[in-house]
Amino acid sequence: MESIWKSGVPPFPYTQNTPLPRRAEVAVVGGGMSGILTALFLKERGIDCIVLEAGEVGGGQSGNTTAKITCQHGLRYAALEKKKGASAARVWAECCLGAIDAYEALAEKYRIACDFERLPAMLYTRRQEEKLEEEAAAARRCGIRAELRRRTELPFDILLALSYPAQAQFHPLRFLWGIAKQVKVWAGCRVCEVKGHTLTTEDGEEVEAQKIVWASHYPPENFPGLYFSRLHQSRSYAIALSGAQTLGAMYYGIDEGALSLRSYRDSLILVGGAHRTGIDHAPPFAALRDAAKKYYPGARVTAEWSAQDVMSGDGLPLAGTFSSLTPDRYLATGYSKWGMTGAMLAAQIIASDICGERHPAAPICSPARFGLSELRATAQESAHAVRGLGRRLLHIPAETAEELSPGMAGVVFYKGEKRGAYRDEAGNLHTLRPYCTHLGCELNWNPDTLTWDCPCHGSRFSPDGVPLDTPATSHLSTCCLHTGRNAAQAPNEPSRKDEQP
Ligand code: FES
Repeated sequence: MESIWKSGVPPFPYTQNTPLPRRAEVAVVGGGMSGILTALFLKERGIDCIVLEAGEVGGGQSGNTTAKITCQHGLRYAALEKKKGASAARVWAECCLGAIDAYEALAEKYRIACDFERLPAMLYTRRQEEKLEEEAAAARRCGIRAELRRRTELPFDILLALSYPAQAQFHPLRFLWGIAKQVKVWAGCRVCEVKGHTLTTEDGEEVEAQKIVWASHYPPENFPGLYFSRLHQSRSYAIALSGAQTLGAMYYGIDEGALSLRSYRDSLILVGGAHRTGIDHAPPFAALRDAAKKYYPGARVTAEWSAQDVMSGDGLPLAGTFSSLTPDRYLATGYSKWGMTGAMLAAQIIASDICGERHPAAPICSPARFGLSELRATAQESAHAVRGLGRRLLHIPAETAEELSPGMAGVVFYKGEKRGAYRDEAGNLHTLRPYCTHLGCELNWNPDTLTWDCPCHGSRFSPDGVPLDTPATSHLSTCCLHTGRNAAQAPNEPSRKDEQP
């Protein structure tokens, strides 16, 4: 099922139908919120900027977000004060509050009917009272009018809630398309190589750009930067309900396994089940449906979808120069589940830098930062990569492809070799080499999204090996495709293109 945002609107109707220009001052790779906002801010400053989007505008994470625009990002401020200091925490709070204002101002300026509305964002806990009290104190020191509450409108008891007033929510695709109309976007234009200042598309077209912005989620370039050693990806799951209570605030539970909730018009959205991409996990949609039945009996599930987030070591975005070795390339990623605020800040930071200005949040979000958190993340990511690569050598499948019933998949023995195999509901067997085309880790099947997911850095592939999420950009090798019944060739699954190059 598509997200509530994607199912409610027709595909983005505006794309350039002229050939790609040979030159541009700035080329942005990725037509999600970060890329489109960056292009807008550059255009408003008189800079010639083009956006190259592999799939559809907003077809990736921007169309699967919960679309909360907040300065409240879970337990943020107490930790930020400890890690980066009181001054940085205060700057961060001011910049995030400014990001909310910026969305509102753009919606007004371009007259975008995107259901933008101000309302409180609430953290809640059922067992960690002290944590929330500590966060409230830190948030107030950062200038946020945070209030503790004992009661909420939620249909279950809480111990304590922390309310931040005047945050915002909206319809992300309606907003994004209103902005995308203002800039030059080539959709369905996959960048497959960047060398120096030259971008080459899948169709062999070349564009020379003075500056290049990677705004395509997980950076697909391994060197320089080595971001694969510091970032991982996480999936989360959402359902929309009709016939449930609508809420006057957005909610985020800080306890393990707690729900996140928001309303959109007369629908209620429940989010949960987050896990590192590519690892075994409990069935998230079943858990969300159970929660819906328990707390909102009589409500009906109208949409189910999932999203993928790039997680940074310290939970803050990476926005700025890609590497000191490539001063004309920029990176926008690592929003760590708070993509709307992160995208706005990243776009502001990068556009400012290109124009020779300094955004106050630039040092906090610098991709070059490397403190204790990044060091810890590097150690953890290296361990994951070693495990993922080790699995390739040491994992011996327990099943054969013949044992897979319809709807089942796994790494199995097939014709004497280790293969990834998926038997679809029609009985067709889809087999491929189950090794990620990024750095070679063994993939795991995700039954909730029907995809092959990489535990190392979070690349994802369709059952037929089409890359869905970076850093991998190449197809998996499909060694063969046949049906269990008549050995006839089955058609390829339609591929979901996303915002990646
Ligand atoms: Fe890096 Fe798969 S995403 S090895």
